[in-house]
Amino acid sequence: MTYDKKTATNTFTVTDNSTGKSYDLPVIEGTVGPRVVDIRKFYADTGCFTYDPGFTSTGSCSSKITFIDGDEGILLHRGYPIDQLAENCDFLEVAYLLLFGDLPNKEQFAQFEHDITYHSMLHEQIQRFYSGFRRDAHPMAVSCGVVGALSAFYHDSLDFTDPYQRVVAETRLIAKMPTIVSWAYKYSIGQPFQYPRNNLTYAENFLHMMFAVPCEPYEVNPVLARAMNRILILHADHEQNASTSTVRLSGSSGANPFACLAAGIASLWGPSHGGANEAVLNMLMQIGSKDRVGEYVKRAKDKDDPFRLMGFGHRVYKNYDPRAKIMQQTCHEVFDELGIHDEPLLQIAMELEKIALEDDYFIEKKLYPNVDFYSGIIFRAMGIPTSMFTALFALARTTGWVAQWLEMIDDPELKIGRPRQLYIGQTQRDFIPMDKR
Ligand code: CMC
Repeated sequence: MTYDKKTATNTFTVTDNSTGKSYDLPVIEGTVGPRVVDIRKFYADTGCFTYDPGFTSTGSCSSKITFIDGDEGILLHRGYPIDQLAENCDFLEVAYLLLFGDLPNKEQFAQFEHDITYHSMLHEQIQRFYSGFRRDAHPMAVSCGVVGALSAFYHDSLDFTDPYQRVVAETRLIAKMPTIVSWAYKYSIGQPFQYPRNNLTYAENFLHMMFAVPCEPYEVNPVLARAMNRILILHADHEQNASTSTVRLSGSSGANPFACLAAGIASLWGPSHGGANEAVLNMLMQIGSKDRVGEYVKRAKDKDDPFRLMGFGHRVYKNYDPRAKIMQQTCHEVFDELGIHDEPLLQIAMELEKIALEDDYFIEKKLYPNVDFYSGIIFRAMGIPTSMFTALFALARTTGWVAQWLEMIDDPELKIGRPRQLYIGQTQRDFIPMDKR
């Protein structure tokens, strides 16, 4: 069952103490989660803007896709808890759920999987696009460039006002992303690009394109495929984070879907967002041994030291990130399968988690491990290089970005996003000729 948001009979009254005037603002209620004060007419009624850099208290849209309760550590996609999805689903089932609102039945899944599978090849000329990059280019730079370039290759799916073209664009993006990301890796190590294989699942196919070479058959390890499938599910969507909001904001102007997704990838790259998984691994290597963990925890607490524990803290989760728990379990499964015991980085990670979780600073500030804390260690064990970590996040998040973009296009309340500002610059002044400055 789906619900529409309702404007409650409730109002929220604010008083301007400088004029003594009071304003009743409507309060909107969703199905769950905090009530929302509707400030859309606030400027017109009061002449004031609201000020919320970082959007810590501001809802930018209404959505039916993902719900997070950060205090309780809850993450639901279309109502389903993330742990149930991660445990039971193929990634494409979750993609279908995010896109269409419900889990697919057998026929719906078969059709969707077929559509994604048969769009996974890239236009052959895109190979030449890759060779324009330096071999040492970051995979996120390459992925961002190639996804943006799709708009130069697929002219028949650029018109966002045409529902059919939207479906084609959505299918192409989800289908081609594993090819784009794995080819960024192949290009960086000078190996031939591997074409997708239609008899493999989404996760298996990605591993195949990453690790197969033409000289010998490549058997996908089922434990690694299961781990990859789970990792993709855990990263698939996370409501209005920086990259998703970037996709929505770009799309609000009517920009084509490939351009919007490239903007999302650029935003994800930052170390405060998707870049954190790469930063976690670099940090663990920098720490180097278990006995130096205390020293780094001390640095993280020092106000005069910019160092932060990467993989700790979250804007929304003020309790354990539910995705991190599943990631930790997946980490142990992968290590058991690969026979990796006493991996030093895992030892450091576990010591760091233990010390930080017992430390007053982290307890008071509610800083828990987030999804990125364990993902990097798993990727490394699978043989995926550090620079690829964020690109893998982008691959998984593409589904969420596309679902959110589609929801936005269909929203009757859609307006071009246009935040206002608190201007603190010069007031008007007269031009001074250069020789008088
Ligand atoms: N290590 C040490 N102190 C921290 C950390 C950390 N990782 N994270 C936050 N704090 C402190 C921060 O110094 C601040 O202290 P004070 O109130 O004394 O100034 C307080 O906790 C609140 O931090 P904030 O920066 O105001 O919180 P935020 O909601 O703006 O930032 C965050 C959230 C994720 C950017 C931040 O916790 C962080 O930088 N974490 C490390 C990077 C990371 O792991 N990012 C991945 C996020 S999850 C995946 C994703 O969303 O992409």
